[in-house]
Amino acid sequence: MELKNPIIISSSGLTESAERNQRFYEAGAGAIVLKSLFEEQIMLEADWLGDPTMYPEGSDYLVEYLREHKLSEYLALIEETKKVCHIPVIASINCYHDAEWEEFAGKIEEAGADAIEINILALQTNLQTQYGVFEQRHIDILRHIKEKVSIPVIMKLGDNLTNPVALIDQLAAGGAAGVVLFNRFYQPDIDIERIKHITGNVLSTEMELARTLRWVGIASGTVNNIDYAASGGIHSLGALVKVLLAGASAAEMCSVFYKQDAKSLINEYTGFLQQWMERQGMQSIAQFKGMLNVKDVKDINMFERTQFMKYFSGKQ
Ligand SMILES: Cc1cc2nc3c(=O)[nH]c(=O)nc-3n(C[C@H](O)[C@H](O)[C@H](O)COP(=O)(O)O)c2cc1C
Repeated sequence: MELKNPIIISSSGLTESAERNQRFYEAGAGAIVLKSLFEEQIMLEADWLGDPTMYPEGSDYLVEYLREHKLSEYLALIEETKKVCHIPVIASINCYHDAEWEEFAGKIEEAGADAIEINILALQTNLQTQYGVFEQRHIDILRHIKEKVSIPVIMKLGDNLTNPVALIDQLAAGGAAGVVLFNRFYQPDIDIERIKHITGNVLSTEMELARTLRWVGIASGTVNNIDYAASGGIHSLGALVKVLLAGASAAEMCSVFYKQDAKSLINEYTGFLQQWMERQGMQSIAQFKGMLNVKDVKDINMFERTQFMKYFSGKQ
């Protein structure tokens, strides 16, 4: 996909209505990822309604109705957004199981989405789960969705993978057009006075940028037949330049748009990028994309270990 600039409005409540999406388009966004359609949202509600003790006669019918209803709401969001936004509109599905769920992908394509982003965000806590099963699920889901659609399929990964680079390599081989590093988990916290669980920071901070830079830098230096979008901790004008230098083609940004008006923000980011490129004599993003990725991955562990030693040996 060609974007007019590398700023993508990342999937969240911000992109759940066509009116808001139109404002992002008018503010100058390069692309928009719609709020995710969650597998659980449909399946849990469907399970509940499908309980035969509650609705003895019509349970199957209700399950089917609910699924279709949720899906048609989402398809309407795609159609309405496409009418008012003349930039790529990416649908997002959050799925956990490799199941019939993938049928929905075909309908999403028919509704006019320019691409589909899949996120398989889940913690792995089951004692019986074998190593690698979770990663394999990504590959299986991608394969099944690719069988249903011809638009680009983008995989948005969590940061809880044993070896993201090996997985990305397999996803590229499986035909994924791009990967997004990374999705953001719900952040738990504890209130020590009330002695109870509470929600931690909903929005990211710039502290999260280092993790994004590390993995975009390592993965893009190794697997270069797939596009990367960086997501997580982009909170300053320079951070956008940094993720491009690390190897990303675009940035999926979310938290900053919860805090500041989109029009001024996008103007500031694109203006800064333009000025920086002029200052550095760069004609296009392609000229510097990945200039600072990690070229020699074989030495990455040694590099990390020596840097770590240097860093902490000075700390009293
Ligand atoms: C309130 C909120 C809701 C989000 N909802 C979704 C979602 O539905 N689907 C998704 O793929 N990512 C979702 N995300 C993750 C963001 O799209 C983004 O990848 C993440 O927040 C990192 O970017 P940031 O540091 O710019 O916020 C959400 C994030 C926030 C803060």
